[in-house]
Amino acid sequence: MDPRRYLRDDIDELAHYAPVQPLEVLAAEIGVPVDEIAKLDANENLYGPHEAVRAAVAAAPLHIYPDPDQAALRAAIADYAGVRPEQVVAGTGSDDLLDLVLRLALPTATATATPTFGMYSFLSGIARMKHIEVPRTAAYGLDLAGLRDAVGQGAGVVFIASPNNPTGNAASHEEIERLCALEALVVVDEAYAEFSGTTAVDLLDSYPNLIVMRTFSKWAGLAGLRVGYALAHPDLVEPMLAIKQPYNVNAAADAAARAALAHRGDLLAAVRAIVAERDRLSREVGALGWLQPHPSDANFVLFDVKAGDSGEVAAALRERGVLVRRYDRPDLANKLRISAGRPQDTDRLLDALGEVAPR
Ligand SMILES: Cc1ncc(COP(=O)(O)O)c(C=O)c1O
Repeated sequence: MDPRRYLRDDIDELAHYAPVQPLEVLAAEIGVPVDEIAKLDANENLYGPHEAVRAAVAAAPLHIYPDPDQAALRAAIADYAGVRPEQVVAGTGSDDLLDLVLRLALPTATATATPTFGMYSFLSGIARMKHIEVPRTAAYGLDLAGLRDAVGQGAGVVFIASPNNPTGNAASHEEIERLCALEALVVVDEAYAEFSGTTAVDLLDSYPNLIVMRTFSKWAGLAGLRVGYALAHPDLVEPMLAIKQPYNVNAAADAAARAALAHRGDLLAAVRAIVAERDRLSREVGALGWLQPHPSDANFVLFDVKAGDSGEVAAALRERGVLVRRYDRPDLANKLRISAGRPQDTDRLLDALGEVAPR
C-alpha cells in the first residue's frame, strides 16, 4: 500500500523553501572549522545574543508549560514598540505569525511585491491559496496599481516586507497608507526595522486592517530561538491569540526575548555597529568595481555581479569559508545578497573577493 495516496494530490508540486544549510554540515563539507566561517548568507546577527539572554535561558523553567496568553512577553513588547499589550501577539518567529494570518483570514489569494522574502509564496502554496506576485519597479519600488489589481483579483492578504529582503529598500509611509486603503489585510513585515529606523507602527491606530510583523531574529540575535511578534488592532489580535498554537512561544524563547528587551540598549548599540558595517560593505565591495551595491536600509546589501557569474562567485567564496546568498529566480539573476557582520567578517569577505575576482 502506498501511504502517499492519502496525501493531498499537489504535494509534489509544492515549492520547497530552501533554508540555509546547518553550519556544522557545511563546515565539514568545505573542511573549514565552524568558527572560521564568515556566515553572511542569512542576515543573522553575528554578534550573537546578549550575555543576560544566555543567563535567562539557563534559568528558564523548562519543565513548566509557558504562558499561552504570553502576558509578560506581550507587555514587554508593547512597551518596546510603543503600543498597548492588546495589540501584540507573539509567535515562533515571524514565520509562524505569517502563517497564522493566512489561517485567520483564509483568503482565496494573497499578493506580494517581488522580488521578496520567499516565505509569503511558500506559505500561500501550502495553504492552497493563489499567490499573486506583482513585480517591483526597476528601482525596486512598489507598483501600487498592480497591487490594487491583485486585491481586485481576490488577494485578501497583501505582504510587503519593509525594508524588503533581498533588495534592502523600505516602503514609504505614503505607500503603506495607500495600500491600507485597499480592501485587504496589509502585512508590513518589518523584520529589519531596527536597522532602518523606519516603521509603520504609528499607522496602526488609523488602519485597523494593518498588521506589522517584527522579529527578534535579526536585531536581538535570536534567530535560533524563534521569536517574532505581530502588532495589530485588538480585533485582529484577539482571534489570533485564540487560534494560535497555545504554546507557540516556548519557555526558553519567552525568557530570552524578555531579557533582550530589558538589555535593548546594548543590543541596539550592536545594531548601530552593524549599520556602520553595512555601509562599509557597500562602499568597499562596491569599490572593487565588479560588484555594484543597491542602497540598503537593512543588515544586508544586494549586489549586481557585473563581471562573472553569481553562482560561480558564491561557490568560490564558499570554498574559502565565506557564505553569501545567491538566487535562482530570473528577477534576481546574477545578484548576490551579502549580510553585514562584524568588521572581521567584512575583512574575510574582502580578502576572499580579492582572490576570486574575475580577471
Ligand atoms: C522579510 C523577512 N521576514 C521574516 C523573516 C523571518 O523571521 P523569523 O526568523 O522571525 O521567522 C525574514 C528572515 O530572513 C525576513 O527576511
